Amino acid sequence: MGLLLMWLSLLVSLLMNFFPFHANSFNTSLQLSCHEDEKSALLQFKHSFVIDKSNCRYETDSPKASSWDSEGVSSDCCSWDGVECDEETGHVIGLDLSDGCIYGSIYSNSTLFHLVHLRKLNLAANNFNRSPIPTTISRLSELTYLNLSSSFFFGQVPDEISQLSRLTTLDLSWKYDELAEENLLKLKSTILRSLVQNLTHLEILRLDYVDVLSKIPDFLANFSSLTDLGLGNAGLHGSIPSSLSKLTELTRLRLAYNRLSGYIPSSLQNLTHLIDLRLQGNQFSGSIPSWLGNLTELKVIYLLGSELHGSIPDSLFKLNNLEILYLDGNHLGGTLEFDMFSKMRRLAQLGLADNKLSLVFGERNTTNGTTLPQFKILGLSSCNISEFPHFLRHQNELRFLDLSKNSIHGQVPKWIWNTSVQTLLWVNISNNFITGFQNPPTAILHWARLQVVDLHSNMLQGQLLIPLSSIEYVDVSNNMLSGEISPLICNLSSIEILDLSQNNFSGTVPHCLGSLSSSLFALNLRNNSFHGIIPLAIEKASNLLMIDFSHNQFQGKLPRSLAICTMLEYLDFSNNQLIDVFPTWLGTLPRLKVIFLQKNGFYGAIQRAKNTSEFPNLHIIDISNNSFSGALPCEYIFIWNGRKTFEMSNSTYMNAGVSIQVGPKDKYLIYYNYATTLVTKSVETYYGKIREELAVINLSSNKFSGEIPEFVGNLIALHSLNLSNNMLTGRIPLSVKGLSKLESLDLSRNMLSGEIPQQLTQLNFLQSFNVSHNNLTGPIPQGDQLRTFDQSSFEGNLGLCGDPLPKKCGDSEALQPTPSADKEDDDSGSPIQLDWKVVLAGSISGFIVGVALEDVMMTKRHGWFIRAFRRGLSRMEI
Ligand SMILES: *[C@@H]1O[C@H](CO)[C@@H](O)[C@H](O)[C@H]1NC(C)=O
Ligand SMILES: *[C@@H]1O[C@H](CO)[C@@H](O)[C@H](O)[C@H]1NC(C)=O
Ligand SMILES: *[C@@H]1O[C@H](CO)[C@@H](O)[C@H](O)[C@H]1NC(C)=O
Ligand SMILES: *[C@@H]1O[C@H](CO)[C@@H](O)[C@H](O)[C@H]1NC(C)=O
Ligand SMILES: *[C@@H]1O[C@H](CO)[C@@H](O)[C@H](O)[C@H]1NC(C)=O
Ligand SMILES: *[C@@H]1O[C@H](CO)[C@@H](O)[C@H](O)[C@H]1NC(C)=O
Ligand SMILES: *[C@@H]1O[C@H](CO)[C@@H](O)[C@H](O)[C@H]1NC(C)=O
Ligand SMILES: *[C@@H]1O[C@H](CO)[C@@H](O)[C@H](O)[C@H]1NC(C)=O
Ligand SMILES: *[C@@H]1O[C@H](CO)[C@@H](O)[C@H](O)[C@H]1NC(C)=O
Ligand SMILES: *[C@@H]1O[C@H](CO)[C@@H](O)[C@H](O)[C@H]1NC(C)=O
Repeated sequence: MGLLLMWLSLLVSLLMNFFPFHANSFNTSLQLSCHEDEKSALLQFKHSFVIDKSNCRYETDSPKASSWDSEGVSSDCCSWDGVECDEETGHVIGLDLSDGCIYGSIYSNSTLFHLVHLRKLNLAANNFNRSPIPTTISRLSELTYLNLSSSFFFGQVPDEISQLSRLTTLDLSWKYDELAEENLLKLKSTILRSLVQNLTHLEILRLDYVDVLSKIPDFLANFSSLTDLGLGNAGLHGSIPSSLSKLTELTRLRLAYNRLSGYIPSSLQNLTHLIDLRLQGNQFSGSIPSWLGNLTELKVIYLLGSELHGSIPDSLFKLNNLEILYLDGNHLGGTLEFDMFSKMRRLAQLGLADNKLSLVFGERNTTNGTTLPQFKILGLSSCNISEFPHFLRHQNELRFLDLSKNSIHGQVPKWIWNTSVQTLLWVNISNNFITGFQNPPTAILHWARLQVVDLHSNMLQGQLLIPLSSIEYVDVSNNMLSGEISPLICNLSSIEILDLSQNNFSGTVPHCLGSLSSSLFALNLRNNSFHGIIPLAIEKASNLLMIDFSHNQFQGKLPRSLAICTMLEYLDFSNNQLIDVFPTWLGTLPRLKVIFLQKNGFYGAIQRAKNTSEFPNLHIIDISNNSFSGALPCEYIFIWNGRKTFEMSNSTYMNAGVSIQVGPKDKYLIYYNYATTLVTKSVETYYGKIREELAVINLSSNKFSGEIPEFVGNLIALHSLNLSNNMLTGRIPLSVKGLSKLESLDLSRNMLSGEIPQQLTQLNFLQSFNVSHNNLTGPIPQGDQLRTFDQSSFEGNLGLCGDPLPKKCGDSEALQPTPSADKEDDDSGSPIQLDWKVVLAGSISGFIVGVALEDVMMTKRHGWFIRAFRRGLSRMEI
């Protein structure tokens, strides 16, 4: 942008100097009057697209070309927005339609390519609807500047680009800080080679987010004029070739988010003009090179998440031009005196989070805080900080402050209220041992522009401090806050996430809370001592995705106004004192995935509702420990499984994603993960994140009667089924064998009879199985999976016999063990190193593990967890 802006302002000043009466007189000026053929080419180009405000990506974008007009005072195309003409010949030599709100396909026959005098063409940040880059671009042989970045061009970059031999700037990148799901453009390395051969004047080459998918080719080093090279997220692998050091003019080098490995070559220290170095998101070996300290012009260093070890070299602190330094998420260690940053006077953004560093700050009254730089962004999460850093007192420009996951004790000091009062947007001091605020000024937090405040998992006591109404995200969960919630909270008209869970709040919930539902995405009051009728009167259309009122003493009925929350995905009212019938009226909510109503006084039979759309997306339901009766409601609540398996991606978690706009083109995405406690495999387990595809049914401890319908076998995506402690009769349906993903099955404490179907041995992922305390008979099937369960899974069935029960079967009843059952379930000798993170991610060398239920942040019985897991592994070895 810098270059471009300079160029535009140059143009403006030229016009001003030479044609002082330009606005009135240019239609008489022959020199500036544009050529008719070029004018018509421009107009045809314009008309082949939709160009209007609705296609703008940002509010600041402008549909420049929409004002082009063949009639009237502005009929001279040289005066059109975005068009530049040569002063002498009148030919169109520049076209800048970047951020131009253009939508539509572009073809080789486009009249754009009639503008053969073009020297500068900028079509960046539009939407060309996945068109290939037209090959006729080679007609624009005068081009020196070509910018097609972030414009939804698609496919192979054509060979013809390498005929544009006058190019000094070529930008085909996707805008660097915006995440694209896939790379749209691909560049064969043979074409890269011809680019290098032909574009000998190239100074700026940006191919970030273009699939190059190779090693960094040595011939790149022949681009001797290059000052700016961008190959971020280009699918590069191998190590950085030391030949890159020949690009001695380089000021910007971006190789981030590739799969580069090996050491960062020391020859790069020859790049003495480097200003901006971004190597983050690779897998380097070794430590931060100390020669970086010799590159004294450096302003920007991104090295986060790059597997670097060692300590931060002292030489780095000599870089007194440095403005941005991100080293988060490596394995850096050692003790770091924060005063070391005093020399970096211009440092404004610093990230050291998630290393093994220990940060030490100067003595409380001796540190001369004014000598540290004025930070705008400070990320000091997981830095072993034990005290509120005193230097913050002197920080007046902070926008983001992250001190989470440290061991800061005591109160937040009172001077904090004067820190960066006008600038602070984002404060995260979660996961510390903070007990409160020294002298809170009023009940209201003071930072004028604060949008995000995260104080969760501390030891905060006292009342909730209500922030100013600009706030969008408040998480004070897992503290010891108490008292009633002030109705002032309803003034937070921009609030998107409100999490007050795991505190000691009491009283009733303010009636006005329902009025926040149009801005709220998530409302979490879990695990407090609220009581009374739930006052949620939602009147307007609502954004609400997640609501959790569980573990309180709420009474009465579920608020019927939830039925208008059409976005709702997650609903938890469990562990209260609600007395109501089953909410079939929620069945119309198209996105509802999770219902938790366990441990309440719900009652009655669950009847088929009259309307047709019944819980189309529901896949986690726990209504256990209520007084439901009648037949199992399978057919009409779990229709999802009858129709489809989930089309969700493997690795995503259920969350509310909110974007926080912090500037006109600057926004941050926060994912607020849904968390809950689920009884799976007879153990109560805390899930800090819930996988999208997790499917769980718990109807236990009710008064359901009748038989288990064969329909159950249709629920093929199911991971856990618990029907225990009801009054179910009849046989275990054979169809259960179709539940191929099942990891936990509990049918205990019913009145089931008949034999255990031999086919259950086909449930390969089963890790928990319980049919105890029924009226089952016959031999226990001896397949390899069922063999792993002990006596407690089978006891209390007078008619059952065979291993692991002490009662032997008579000869007539004996069953042949299946052939693979002689392999011992021996986990102790497993040669596979347990790396649970890898396993949780879903696969090890091609084997899929039944892991949906293992995917937990923490379990109450860690040992159990590991054991269950090893069983999974040893099974895979077979
Ligand atoms: C290309 O245009 C985009 C959008 O205007 C701009 O951000 C980027 O800096 C330009 N690239 C070059 C190399 O000028
Ligand atoms: C520009 O041209 C229009 C008609 O095309 C005319 O009305 C107007 O007076 C001209 N402007 C000047 C400054 O001559
Ligand atoms: C240009 O090419 C496209 C696709 O090949 C075609 O649909 C369109 O009609 C052509 N336009 C003109 C003006 O020839
Ligand atoms: C290099 O440029 C010349 C002149 O524009 C052109 O004739 C030639 O085909 C180009 N070479 C490649 C490999 O594209
Ligand atoms: C790079 O620096 C090394 C010394 O570190 C020197 O031997 C080499 O010649 C330099 N290479 C270039 C291309 O300047
Ligand atoms: C880098 O700086 C150190 C001193 O800080 C010096 O010894 C070394 O020679 C320098 N290297 C280069 C290549 O200039
Ligand atoms: C630091 O100064 C404060 C007053 O500003 C004083 O109360 C405190 O005792 C001093 N602490 C030390 C360690 O000198
Ligand atoms: C802090 O240091 C700066 C320069 O190093 C000096 O000007 C200033 O007076 C000092 N402030 C205090 C409070 O000591
Ligand atoms: C899920 O993972 C499997 C194996 O890793 C893969 O084959 C499949 O394509 C993935 N599905 C989705 C939707 O990502
Ligand atoms: C147990 O099942 C048998 C048939 O297998 C039946 O005769 C008996 O009544 C059942 N007992 C109970 C308590 O349901």
